[in-house]
Amino acid sequence: MSQDKTEQVKFWQGDFGDNYVDRNAVSFEQMRMRISLWVKIFGHMAHDMPKSILEVGPNIGLNLRAMQMLCEAEYFAVEPNAKAREVLIKDGVLPEANVQDAFAGNFAVPEKPVDLAFTSGVMIHIHHDDLLDACRNIYNSSCKYIVCNEYFSDKPEILQYRDHGDKLFKRDYGSFWLENFPDLKCLGYGFEWKVMTGMDNATWWVFEKR
Ligand SMILES: C[S@@+](CC[C@H](N)C(=O)[O-])C[C@H]1O[C@@H](n2cnc3c(N)ncnc32)[C@H](O)[C@@H]1O
Repeated sequence: MSQDKTEQVKFWQGDFGDNYVDRNAVSFEQMRMRISLWVKIFGHMAHDMPKSILEVGPNIGLNLRAMQMLCEAEYFAVEPNAKAREVLIKDGVLPEANVQDAFAGNFAVPEKPVDLAFTSGVMIHIHHDDLLDACRNIYNSSCKYIVCNEYFSDKPEILQYRDHGDKLFKRDYGSFWLENFPDLKCLGYGFEWKVMTGMDNATWWVFEKR
């Protein structure tokens, strides 16, 4: 596992990441969209809901805030941007002790693995070459479920992101998980069509460790 900060992580820790926090907001509409997303995802775990949950890259915690209305669990986060971590703690989304200053490729895997570890709009900001390290860490953090909610493309792609090169990636993340971690079973997947959901045309997968 590489401990070095990647170019992409430095980008999110700097001005771009800070401005993203400022642009992001806990609006009624955002919460409605996230709650609707997590009702669908949690539906695949209804037989055995997670009691501990880790989000890797939550920013101001739109997912965590919505999930906390739907699932009673202990929540944790790994977030490389200091301003985002501050909001999470100041708003009482998470206690400081449950927020790690780290990134997907280098965070400390919890001693007691959580029931669910997930990313949402984060793998798309990890270079394809660094993705396996990130997934391995996420995989090792969970003893039960892994969720991934990301942009989909049949083939690995690198796109321009708000005029920045090498900061936005797409691929079939579901297949990437299954190919590299063959003990995962896919419990479900879905597409958040912007026209109907307001979400940004993201695809999600729910995996369970067998
Ligand atoms: C596009 S935002 C998504 C925020 C949130 N997950 C959501 O769905 O609203 C990306 C977030 O991931 C964080 N991030 C970027 N690269 C990361 C990495 N390699 N590991 C963990 N978090 C990362 C950024 O600081 C930012 O907070």
